[in-house]
Amino acid sequence: MKIDVVLTPAEIDLLPQRDDLENATAIVFDVLRATSTILTALEHGAQEIFPVRTIDEALALKAQMPDALLGGERHGEKIDGFDLGNSPLEYRRELLRRIITTTTNGTVALRACESARGVREVLAGALLNMSALLEHLQNGACENVLLVCAGTFRETALEDVIAAGMICANLSQKMVELTDAAQIARAVFIENERDIFAALSRARNGRALLGKGRADDVRWCAQISFYNTIGVLKVGAIRRLTRAANGSEA
Ligand code: MLT
Repeated sequence: MKIDVVLTPAEIDLLPQRDDLENATAIVFDVLRATSTILTALEHGAQEIFPVRTIDEALALKAQMPDALLGGERHGEKIDGFDLGNSPLEYRRELLRRIITTTTNGTVALRACESARGVREVLAGALLNMSALLEHLQNGACENVLLVCAGTFRETALEDVIAAGMICANLSQKMVELTDAAQIARAVFIENERDIFAALSRARNGRALLGKGRADDVRWCAQISFYNTIGVLKVGAIRRLTRAANGSEA
């Protein structure tokens, strides 16, 4: 298995030009907070989550599916006229059948992976579902793995690199070939693994959330393997990945 890591939003923009993603499994990490929120919503019964890049796209999709809820953020805040923000704590309730969500980095990264040539599956990853991701990679036929760090605005996000690094560190070295970027991510995880909450609190978006009194969001997203759910993006919608007993996709 070869593992590569996309560390910056600028590399996400270049994904359409990559010709080495044949049959790849892409896992998108936006630990603070988009993919953590998506997994929390799936765990609480959301059937379909539609990640879109822009507010206009969200409103256009809403016109086609009036029953769906509008969620997401800009500058960390709920978008005017939307039903939900992007705090995972808002999604810990049932009733959320279909959700359209747009965020600054996470939804952009998810859509970029979906349209990248050769990518076989796009998964929503976070610290919350780490064990489920590792099980899927170890048991699924994943030979080409791309871990995508969504970032914060145009910058690399420490929290996303820590999550990607945790994957790299936890897969037995015998079975994996780590690119330099993957080795960097692993080193960042090892440097921070003693206190993940403290590391997330030092990250740019972690500091911004703490500054807004959203320490509970950071604490929630810092939980490791709290859920056994994986979200898989297919044809514009994220649904729960249903897995066979051996952990591979059913
Ligand atoms: C993003 O997608 O940029 C983040 O999830 C933003 C946030 O929730 O603060």
